[in-house]
Formats: sequence, structure tokens, C-alpha cells
Amino acid sequence: MKKIIVPPIKIQGIKTKLVEWISLHVPNFSWRRIEPFMGSGVVGFNIVPKNAIFSDINPHTIKFYQEINNWNINHLMVRNFLEQEGEFLKEQGEKHYKYVRDRFNAEQSTLDFLFLNRSDFNGMIRFNKKWGFNVPFGKKPERFSKAYITKIVNQVRNLEVLMQQNNREFICRDFEEIIKIANSNDFLYCDPPYLWRNVDYFDSRSEADEIKLNTLLTDSVARFILSTRHSNTYRTNEYLSTVRWNFKILTKEHFYHLWGKKENRNAMKEAIVMNYEIVEVASVKKNSISIPKNVFVNESLFDPILEY
Ligand SMILES: C[S@@+](CC[C@H](N)C(=O)[O-])C[C@H]1O[C@@H](n2cnc3c(N)ncnc32)[C@H](O)[C@@H]1O
Repeated sequence: MKKIIVPPIKIQGIKTKLVEWISLHVPNFSWRRIEPFMGSGVVGFNIVPKNAIFSDINPHTIKFYQEINNWNINHLMVRNFLEQEGEFLKEQGEKHYKYVRDRFNAEQSTLDFLFLNRSDFNGMIRFNKKWGFNVPFGKKPERFSKAYITKIVNQVRNLEVLMQQNNREFICRDFEEIIKIANSNDFLYCDPPYLWRNVDYFDSRSEADEIKLNTLLTDSVARFILSTRHSNTYRTNEYLSTVRWNFKILTKEHFYHLWGKKENRNAMKEAIVMNYEIVEVASVKKNSISIPKNVFVNESLFDPILEY
């Protein structure tokens, strides 16, 4: 198995454990790849596009990656900062966490954002309506141990190397604007926040957004993969059966550990929806099959993922 590049930012719904499976279905042409819901960026960082546009509505994750890309912050600065703030956290616990949270909400510093994301409750990212970060403390004053800091520093350093090798742009926009720029030579990977009907919303995503995304993807001339939930023991994603998808749907069992609620500790069936098919070159040769429109042949089912 290839080594997965794990980003320094954590987020609910992060696809670290699904990257390999998703990558198998990405056509390995050197198309521009566009990710309108980048989140932590773990999918895009592991499918190694030559040209990529990463976008998200959250200005702080985008700013974090822009600053690494522009060398405004680097792994040495991250180490110094986390060592210093980690000491204060050890001495003062929640009081210091809240102090950094207030400072972040006043000044929006990227390093404060990283500190909060890596010491808050469950690595969540959540804001109030005025974009004030409001996730509670993760209750671990000794969070920034030497080993933990080194892990984060290495994650930043891996990204510094990766960003030198490819042309990546990080922008903060609503998904609608980004999907509309995709042309027929582009590949879109969409991973919107999940919307389970009649349950708590994790953020302000609404059914109207879901319908808008469906329409944009149906009308898009680009190839796309949409990640979504298929079902768990308690419910099935109605969205997959009610919208008019004429597309290929693949599923995989996955285990999320979120929110401490019983229903969320169960296995989840993840789905990807695609407007094309992938076949392996070996299978084409063996069966002498002709290639229908919208079927792509991958030489190797994995792009060369860089190892660090
Ligand atoms: C499920 S997460 C993406 C996770 C990501 N694939 C990963 O593995 O880390 C969904 C992302 O969509 C972003 N988002 C929510 N509403 C959006 C909108 N209207 N336009 C663009 N991004 C949006 C959120 O900020 C969040 O980062």
C-alpha cells in the first residue's frame, strides 16, 4: 500500500482512510483537478495533479495552505510556535486554550488556527454566524507532547515539498463559482458536508445547496467524482435515490468515530458517484474490448504517490 500524505489540518468527514479507494477511480490523465470542498485537502494532496485548484468556503484552511505555499509559514515556525504555546497549555489548560481562541477570533492568525484545530474537541472546525471559532477545548492540557509536535511539523514539511513540485492554487469561494469554471479537460472531486434529512446539521448546509450541487454536476462537461454517504444501520441517504443520477455509484464500508453519539460509532457505507467509468488496461487487452465513450483506461490504477 502506498504511503498516504496526511495533512496537518483535521476536519470532520476527513477522507484519510478512503483516499486510496477514491484514487483508484480517478482517471490518471494530466487534467487539471479541481476540488471545490477541499477541507483538509487530503484527497487532492494524494492524487498528485500537475495543476490543481483547491477551494473551500472556510477562509482559514485556505489561508493556512496559501501561507505554506507562499513560504509565509514553514515547519520550523510551526515547531517553535507549538512548543511555546504547548508549554502555556500545559500550565494553564483550558484557560490558555480560550485565550488563543479569543486571540484567533480577533486576529485570525494561521498558527493560532493550527493550534486550536490540533487541541480542540475531536479536531473539529466549527464557526458561529460571524465566523467566530467556537469549538470547545479537547480537555488535554498535555496535548502538545514532543512526539505530537514532531508529527505535525513533519506533516507541514511534507506539504512544503509537495507544493514545490506542482502548480496548486488555493482559493476561498462558494462551490457554485468553482464548479462553473471546470471545462471538459478538468476533473472535479466534490466532497460536500453530508446532509442527513431530519437530523442535526453539522453546519449550515441546506437541501437547497444539495439540489444546486446536483444540477451543477449534472450540467458540467467535466468528469467528476462526488463523495457522499450511502447508508448506516439507522438510515439511508435518500438523496442518492431521489435525485436523477444516471451515473455510476460505488460503495465501501467505512468506520467513522465522531461526536460520541452511539449512532455515529457504527460502520458507514460511503458512496462515490461518477459520470464515467474506469477500466484497467490489462482487462482491455485481455478481453479485446472496445472502449465506449465515457470509459477511461488507467495504465496503473494508482498515480505515483510520493513517499516521504
Ligand atoms: C466533508 S468536508 C471535506 C473533507 C475533505 N474532503 C477532507 O478529506 O478533508 C466539506 C468541506 O466543504 C466546505 N464547504 C461547506 N459549504 C461550502 C460551500 N458553500 N462552498 C465551498 N465549500 C463549502 C466546508 O468548509 C468543508 O471544508
